[in-house]
Amino acid sequence: SKTRITVIPGDGIGPSIIDSAIQILQHAGCDFDYDYADAGLVALEKHGELLPQATLDLIERNKVSLKGPLTTPVGGGFTSINVSLRKKFNLYANVRPVISFNGTKSRYENIDIITVRENTEGMYSGAGQKRSDDNNSAEAMSIITREGAERIATFAFELAKNEGRKKVTVVHKANILKSTSGLFLEVARQVAARYPEIQCEEMIVDAACMNLVMYPERFDVMVTTNLFGDILSDLCAGLVGGLGMAPGANIGSGAAIFEAVHGSAPDIAGKNIANPTSVILASVQMLEYLGMQEKAERILGAVRATIEAGEHVTRDLGGSASTDEFTQAVIARL
Ligand code: NAI
Ligand code: MG
Repeated sequence: SKTRITVIPGDGIGPSIIDSAIQILQHAGCDFDYDYADAGLVALEKHGELLPQATLDLIERNKVSLKGPLTTPVGGGFTSINVSLRKKFNLYANVRPVISFNGTKSRYENIDIITVRENTEGMYSGAGQKRSDDNNSAEAMSIITREGAERIATFAFELAKNEGRKKVTVVHKANILKSTSGLFLEVARQVAARYPEIQCEEMIVDAACMNLVMYPERFDVMVTTNLFGDILSDLCAGLVGGLGMAPGANIGSGAAIFEAVHGSAPDIAGKNIANPTSVILASVQMLEYLGMQEKAERILGAVRATIEAGEHVTRDLGGSASTDEFTQAVIARL
């Protein structure tokens, strides 16, 4: 039977960039069945909740989802939908690749970096958030477990091995955050010892920022804790032309959700000018996850050729094409 994909168009620019990715998958001959599901503001308006049970059931049943950005309303005590999804399905690995294409406004060439971000622990565990009664101090807990560090480090080294990569950089701050980052580094070293064929490099996070900006071509795979990974992966997006170029996969043992790194971009929603490359590249990650390497390469090649030709790129890359025009240009090159 056909593979079923749960498609969550989401909010803002989500429906239009998701539609672009689905059209491209179809033109590339991917024979999927799609189950559409609501989440985010659109779900709140239609069903009275941000993350309806029917959507959770579809994610659970199909195991593989392609998701647009979701707007979490500010105020009203809503917890981030993305954080909820990652927790609910234990999507512990956030895999964010960036690659250089000529024809973007990036200052760099030859960048090919995968950030592997721990997605459930660290500063984003949500534990211990409080304000003092007099409102003059605040605290939050950072949690690192041996199990959590071990599975993300193993994920990164396995990914490096399977993709024929040479180096994994462990990014940490163990010199200051001795307990948490210290445990993360200690476990990462133990995992690295099981992969003698892959070079393991250790780098303190502030030095990593400088080195990424000065010598990004020296990086290969990076593995790090939640907060550092969040920040470093946006930095990496900036190295290759911006958020419109940055996909991400949230992977757990039982489910995977593929999405763009960016949000719903309310400032440009409904104008048909968003760059759909982020979600198209997320669908490429999805194909790789499903073992459909040939189709993944075909789509990646068509996106690359379209951007490098430069005639039909969106405004964020310095062009004037609409989302639809870019999509049609990619389809023409498939
Ligand atoms: P954003 O990522 O939506 O936008 C930041 C800037 O980048 C904006 O100027 C936007 O126009 C531009 N941009 C983003 N994606 C683009 C694309 N594909 N093509 C061209 N330009 C693009 O961040 P912002 O404005 O801080 O957040 C908006 C909403 O998105 C918030 O409600 C936030 O909670 C949500 N959000 C959701 C995420 C998710 O669902 N994974 C991730 C980040 C934010
Ligand atoms: Mg982020």
